[in-house]
Amino acid sequence: RLFVVTGQEQGGDLAAEEIARALAATESGFVLGVATGSSPESTWRALAARKPPVDLSAVRAFALDEYWDLPADHPESYKEVIHRQITRPLGLNPQLVRVPGDDGKDLRAAQRYEQAIRAAGGIDLQVLGIGRNGHIGFNEPGSSLDSRCRVTQLSEETRKANSRFFATVEDVPAYCITQGIGTITEARRLLLLAYGPEKAQALAAALEGPVTSAVPASALQLHPDLTVVADESAASQLR
Ligand code: F6R
Repeated sequence: RLFVVTGQEQGGDLAAEEIARALAATESGFVLGVATGSSPESTWRALAARKPPVDLSAVRAFALDEYWDLPADHPESYKEVIHRQITRPLGLNPQLVRVPGDDGKDLRAAQRYEQAIRAAGGIDLQVLGIGRNGHIGFNEPGSSLDSRCRVTQLSEETRKANSRFFATVEDVPAYCITQGIGTITEARRLLLLAYGPEKAQALAAALEGPVTSAVPASALQLHPDLTVVADESAASQLR
């Protein structure tokens, strides 16, 4: 399903509605996959502002990714960003919110994260953004479509795009830990958010191009329950 919206605020309302509906349709133990970055911000705001309020206190949440070479208490670590933008405003229980590597950044961290997702029963709904180069999570072009959670490198393009959150591009970590494309596409529902003209090419390649590891988000075409919310500029190159 593709929804073309007028802007991020309308997109956020729609995406929040999708999440609230999925939550209501799940008997118990809803597991939400959360993304960071700019794209989901209006969704988190809309979800926090819903009337009557959505009770998320029992929801388990798993983040897509985290910087590897950044202290967990750094303000731009995804652990911190998620706490500020999601856990606190949405009233999630911090103990039920996981970020890859939050239980130790060692050789087995990625494997433990996969196990934790599995032990929670899998992800019911995964929120996603898309990188300008077609990445999802931090699966950069060339990542295997079967990839699992792992420590990997950020592309220079992504480091440049994320340098807006840091003083200089050199301060953006070079390594990350991310759910793999195989991990992400095991979620029961996927909700992809794309706003702005700089996402147009990537979105068209992801949804209408060949399924290829050169465009990691193209793997989403194979998913049976994908909802895409895009504004007019991000959707402008769709046929
Ligand atoms: C964030 C993530 C990334 C972003 C993507 C788009 O957790 O996994 O894939 O979704 O880089 O970022 P924004 O939304 O900032 O344009």
